[in-house]
Amino acid sequence: MTKHLLLGRTLGFSGHPLTQDWADAVRYDPAGGVLIAAGKITALGDGAALRAAHPDARLVDYGDKLISAGFVDAHMHYPQTGIIASWGKQLIDWLNTYTFPEEARLADPAYAAAIANRTIDLAVAHGTTTLTSFCTIHPASVDAFFTAAAARDMAVVAGKTCMDRNAPDNLRDTAQAAYDDSAALITRWHGTGRATYAITPRFSPTSTPDQLAALGALWAAHPTCLMQTHLSEQLPEIAWVRDLFPQARDYLDTYEAFGLLGARGIYGHAIHLEPREIARLAEVGAAVVHCPTSNSFIGSGLFDLIGLARAGLTIGLATDTGGGSSFSMLRTMAAAYEIGQLRGVALHPAQLMWLATEGSAQALHMSGQIGHLGLGAAADITVLDLASTPAIAQRSARADDIWDALFPTIMMGDDRAVADVWIAGVRQGIA
Ligand code: GUN
Ligand code: ZN
Repeated sequence: MTKHLLLGRTLGFSGHPLTQDWADAVRYDPAGGVLIAAGKITALGDGAALRAAHPDARLVDYGDKLISAGFVDAHMHYPQTGIIASWGKQLIDWLNTYTFPEEARLADPAYAAAIANRTIDLAVAHGTTTLTSFCTIHPASVDAFFTAAAARDMAVVAGKTCMDRNAPDNLRDTAQAAYDDSAALITRWHGTGRATYAITPRFSPTSTPDQLAALGALWAAHPTCLMQTHLSEQLPEIAWVRDLFPQARDYLDTYEAFGLLGARGIYGHAIHLEPREIARLAEVGAAVVHCPTSNSFIGSGLFDLIGLARAGLTIGLATDTGGGSSFSMLRTMAAAYEIGQLRGVALHPAQLMWLATEGSAQALHMSGQIGHLGLGAAADITVLDLASTPAIAQRSARADDIWDALFPTIMMGDDRAVADVWIAGVRQGIA
């Protein structure tokens, strides 16, 4: 069996740097090594010692580059790749003007396959090794995404987006079709290779109570599936939900009432939460996902990362492509930092890197398997060049510790900072 030994600076985590002192959660080695065999990380530690212990391993010496777990994007929409960075609209107008017309084009399976492959290529080039995606209402759009990911042996989460109201005719299903199509896709894909299925009601405004109830029943029948949706992203959206569900206590209740609140639920955005919603999300152990470039781009608001972490919520980090304005989890970390600053909090680079790897993996219930530079984890690895552009290089040259060396790449880096990517132990050859 071929073994690979990667040498370089290594950064991993053994704790939770948002709820404990970040320094106690970090494992950093300036001359580390990562041994890979059969798609997994099989040893980790001092580079020279690993080299002596494994003379048969093929060496890849990254010098002073930084070896990290691959980035895990906990919420995005692959069908929106073609309309990323579309000008001038806030959420509901943005959906109607740009998003729905483009999603309708994915009725063509060949177009869906092209966009799925394009999205995954872009993600990998940006150092992202797991995507969590909404698809469209078309089951073939789900097949296209899982097929494209399987070709790269990539761990992904995805599901058919379900909508049976407040969407164009050609993007509506029914409660029964949403149930039946999703059930068939679960049978085909959930647990196939590295695929995980997420039952996917888009958000309460585009599902009737019947459809939400049908999807709640489907989740109860398939409890190992994840469930992904949107929650409390923009104030006009929340007002609309109040009109559509007058009996609901709050936005979260429109999911809870229909069996769509649970530990394996992943709620995107979650910006404008009521105290009851925060308490319930914490009580059931659900995850919320911070989508900072999207929250600025669409004008949604300032996510309360530290407050929600302290309340005990699991928090992932995500691009939310194409409401988000970047494919890069580096740019996404930068946006999280900027939103933190607007709330009076300076997130540490260790906290940002943790969110982009371990935090998102935790939100997906895949801790220790992905987003983790540790024994037994999948060898999904991203190698960062901390001097990828002249602007970054002149700044990182002054650094006197790893955090001061890394932070300029978080703030200013893009796909040029991604020196290499490994997925399930296979080098992707992007450099
Ligand atoms: N809410 C419902 N659908 C969407 C979407 O596609 N993107 C974002 N950002 N929010 C949504
Ligand atoms: Zn979204």
